[in-house]
This record gives sequence, structure tokens and C-alpha cells, in this order.
Amino acid sequence: MDSFKINRRNMLMGTGASLASLALSGRAEAAMKAAVAAQDEAEAQPTPDQVRRMQWWHAAKFGMFIHFGCYSQHARHEWAMEDEAIPLVEYQQFSQEFRPKPGSQRAWAKLAKAAGMKYMVMTTKHHEGFCNWDTKLTDYNAVKQGPKQDLVREYVEAARAEGMRVGFYYSLMDWHHPDGARCATDEDARKRFVEYTHGLIRELLTNYGKIDVLWYDVAWPLDAQGWESERMNKMVFELQPDIIVNNRNHLPGDFSTPEQKIVASNGGRAWESCMTLNDSWGFQRADDNWKSSKTIIRNLISCTRDGGNYLLNIGPRGDGSIPEESVRVLSEVGKWMETNADPVRNSDLCQPRRSTYASFTRIGNTLYMHVHFWPGGDVAISGLQTKVKSARLMKTGQDVKFTQDPYRVHLVGLPMEAPDSPVTTIAIECESEPKQDTDFVRKNKPRGGVGIEA
Ligand code: GLC
Repeated sequence: MDSFKINRRNMLMGTGASLASLALSGRAEAAMKAAVAAQDEAEAQPTPDQVRRMQWWHAAKFGMFIHFGCYSQHARHEWAMEDEAIPLVEYQQFSQEFRPKPGSQRAWAKLAKAAGMKYMVMTTKHHEGFCNWDTKLTDYNAVKQGPKQDLVREYVEAARAEGMRVGFYYSLMDWHHPDGARCATDEDARKRFVEYTHGLIRELLTNYGKIDVLWYDVAWPLDAQGWESERMNKMVFELQPDIIVNNRNHLPGDFSTPEQKIVASNGGRAWESCMTLNDSWGFQRADDNWKSSKTIIRNLISCTRDGGNYLLNIGPRGDGSIPEESVRVLSEVGKWMETNADPVRNSDLCQPRRSTYASFTRIGNTLYMHVHFWPGGDVAISGLQTKVKSARLMKTGQDVKFTQDPYRVHLVGLPMEAPDSPVTTIAIECESEPKQDTDFVRKNKPRGGVGIEA
């Protein structure tokens, strides 16, 4: 397998070399480089050090993302400054009006814990450039401006008090700093801006104790060389030898970050799907497009059965309060997790996935059928390739009767009303690892004779 991988990579590299020697277009070369990078990423097996650093994170599975900044006060989405082309002086007023109530962060951490989450990642600086902590490198920060407090310190202490692991989101793109755009074309500006950026990250990873995750975002307008990303990560690991970092500073880092979608990585690479609860990361007072707790639970299951994590966002208001809909949905998820967390958090990779009303997780030989649309009375699984030994309802512990033939496991005698809400889980103990083959069913399940029914 290894030599096959090496060969495929060499083949791509070889193609690149011959393209270069033929002096083909820059575009072809860029495509080749992208193909090699994708290949590298897909085939990256975790190193022993990554295994060590990422153990808690893989076990955690479910985290809270928090977008908090001056945009929370403005209340029209964290991209408003650019998407409404708000002049800087006009936008800066929100940095004065932004006055979170002390103790808000503790409520976020309590909600995360109640929802069954194990870690938090808060924006320390978003694209707007405002620093939520007591930085020495700019006055555009939470201590010097409206909040008059170190919001990062409040957050770190609150998270730790509730037993949450602590993550920092950091946007490389900066709409406020004078060098934030011209660094792309002016080498002196680039040098200054890279020193500023590295300096801010250094402060964050020096002044707040042990930090568990560094979550880079938007690396516009520089590439890895421009940001000096290798040096950046080297500093990060020197300051925090146990930390994990994502892949948004143009380096692969420790994990991939599919956004607003659930896409598993190949080849054992770690991944985390980040998602909003409505359609905005930062507070947007008019966004009423809330996901239901059922949707959140289905998404969490889709992540964990494929070996990934789910980072779910809240966007508190400028005063630090959490929108009521977010509280309601996360509380419902938490209530459900009280009974169902084990198979979801501890799922092994789970192959069965075909059903119109259920999704699946697996621990060893036990298949967990999570029914999100309860049809009442009976449920069935098509094409299960192992023998079922027993089944029971997670909510009540009650045994479930079943029959099994080569095509169908039929679970019967179930209550007409769903025993659990918003999703009912049935634990199905099997003789060997449960696998599903619905092609087998399509090809082999007996069909009727022409014109004559038996
Ligand atoms: C995007 C957005 C940003 C958000 C991030 C979360 O990069 O630009 O607003 O913070 O996604 O993943």
C-alpha cells in the first residue's frame, strides 16, 4: 500500500517535472501543485505526535464555536463591515458601544457543557481586526475600547471552570490594520504586518496558560511564504507543545475544516465540520433561519460515524447574551445527549447508512439505529450482512422483538409514538461488525412472476 502511495505521488511529481521542462503555462503547473497537495493531504497518516496531541479532541467530538466581536454589537453579520462597505470611522463606533456584561462567557460555557460539548473555540480577532484581549500591539482592543475588559481572559476562565478545552480562533485577514491589504504588494508592509500577526499570536499563546486549539481563518492576501506560516507554526508549538492547529494558514496543520458541510477526509486525516445554527456566524438580529435540534443531532451523527468532529456556532449579542433560539436548540440537544451521548461520541467508523428515516453509529459489533422520523410500530433495516442477536430501546431499556431474513431485519412491536425526542435510538447487538449491502437486496430479493402472483 505504501509503495503504491509513493508511486502515485511520484507519478504526479514526475508529470510536474515534465510539464515544467516543456515550459507549460503557469496554470498547468498550479494545477499540478494543487493535485500534489491534495494527494499529500489525503494520504497524510497522523504522526505519533499528532496521535498524542489529538487524542482528547477525537474523544471530544462535539465543540462550541463562538463568534464575538464588534459585529455582535452591530448585529448585522460579521461580514457587514466589508459587505456593506462601512467606512472605518463609522464602524469603529461599535467598538465603543460593544459592552458585554461580565459573566456572559460563563453562561456560554454552561450551555456548551449542557449540550454535551467538550471544547470551545472563540474568535479572538475576526476579519474586522478588533482584538478581544489585552494586547500591547494595538489600541484597537477590548481593554482600551468599549468592553473595558479582557474578553479572552474571561472566556478562558469560564471555559476552564466548566471543564471545557479552550480554543482560539484567529483571522489572519484584517480589515482594520493599515498593512492588512497592501502587504500583498509592498514588502515593507508585509514585513510589518507579519511581525504584528506573529506578535499577536505570541501574546495569545503566552498570556492565557494552556491553550488546546489554534483555529486560523482566512489567509488573504498572502500565501504560506508571505505569512511565514512555517515559522508561525514553529513558534506556536514552541509556546504550546500540546496544542493542535487547523489548516487555514496555508499549511496542512493537524486537521481539515469543511465549512457548512459534512465531508470526511480521506486516508485517516482528522477533520472537523464547522457550522452555524442559523445562517450567520456573528449575531445577525434578523436571521431567523434556525436549524432544529433534530437537524443538529443528525449532523452530529453524520460527523461521528465518519470519524469527524462537529464544531457548532453560537453568535452572542453585543451584551454577551445568547439568542434564545440557540439556547433552546442546544438545550434540546443536551437533553437528548443525556441518554444517547455514548454511541454518538464513541462511534467507530460505521458503514451502514441507507435509510430514509434513520441514521447509524456503531460501537464494535453493536449498531445504533437513530430514528429521526418515527414511522410507528415497526422499523426495518435493508441488507444487513450480519446476524442480529438482540435489540433494545436506549430510552427505556426495553427489549425489541425482531425477525431477520437475508434481506431485512424487521424490528416489531414498537410503540406507535416515538419513545424519545427528537430522535429515538435502538441498540442492535450483532454477531460481527455490522455492514450493509442494499445492492444485494436489489439484485437478489425474490421478484414476482410475469402476470401471476403467488
Ligand atoms: C468563513 C467566514 C468567517 C467565519 C468562518 C468560520 O471563513 O469568513 O466569517 O468566521 O468562515 O469557519
